[in-house]
Amino acid sequence: MMKARHTLVLSIIAGSVGAAAIQSFRGQAKPKIHRVVTIIVAALGAMLSAARAETPVERGGYLVNAVMACDGCHTPRPPGGAFDMSKRFSGGSQTWDTPQYLVKGSNISPDPETGIGKWSADDFKRALTEGVRPSAVALAPQMPFVFYKVLTPRDLDAVTTYVRSVTPVRNEVQPPVFPARKNL
Ligand code: HEC
Repeated sequence: MMKARHTLVLSIIAGSVGAAAIQSFRGQAKPKIHRVVTIIVAALGAMLSAARAETPVERGGYLVNAVMACDGCHTPRPPGGAFDMSKRFSGGSQTWDTPQYLVKGSNISPDPETGIGKWSADDFKRALTEGVRPSAVALAPQMPFVFYKVLTPRDLDAVTTYVRSVTPVRNEVQPPVFPARKNL
């Protein structure tokens, strides 16, 4: 996809240069050349921003780190301290204790036993946007999946790729308790 875009941009540049050459040959160069130069600069700009438009992991890193704040609930933090990034995504320190549920931010690092290591990319996307685990058990609304529905497919892919690429951390998080569900 990226390659295709580059090829397209490159052929726009090649075409523009060719057109410029022909026009200057015909002696009507100046004003048109300006336009052509503008097109080339714009095309180069588009190419650079496409090149800067990152790999999925970079895009996901940007979204997760700067926008979506997964660490806030999923990375441990000693009281009053900073996030413990050596245990990133291994489970948050907070507990949400409500009449409907008692939950903690899960271990979302790719550890196969205590995190999401055995989940497929689709499992992860479903949890993130629909709030349903692979086991079909629903997540507590404390996990803001309702907001994550707005992600474009590309951004959802990027976030998924990024989170699945971090270092796995083994840490058993207390499983959620849903008093109402016990009666089901
Ligand atoms: C406001 C707090 C909060 C934020 C922000 C948050 N989560 Fe969660 N998340 C939770 C809680 C709490 C749970 C556990 C809910 C439960 O057990 O029912 C959870 C569960 C999950 C699960 C299911 C894990 C499992 O083992 O079942 C995934 C996957 C997940 N979150 C990914 C993310 C990602 C990725 C982000 C950032 C894009 C994020 N979360 C942001 C609170 C949050």
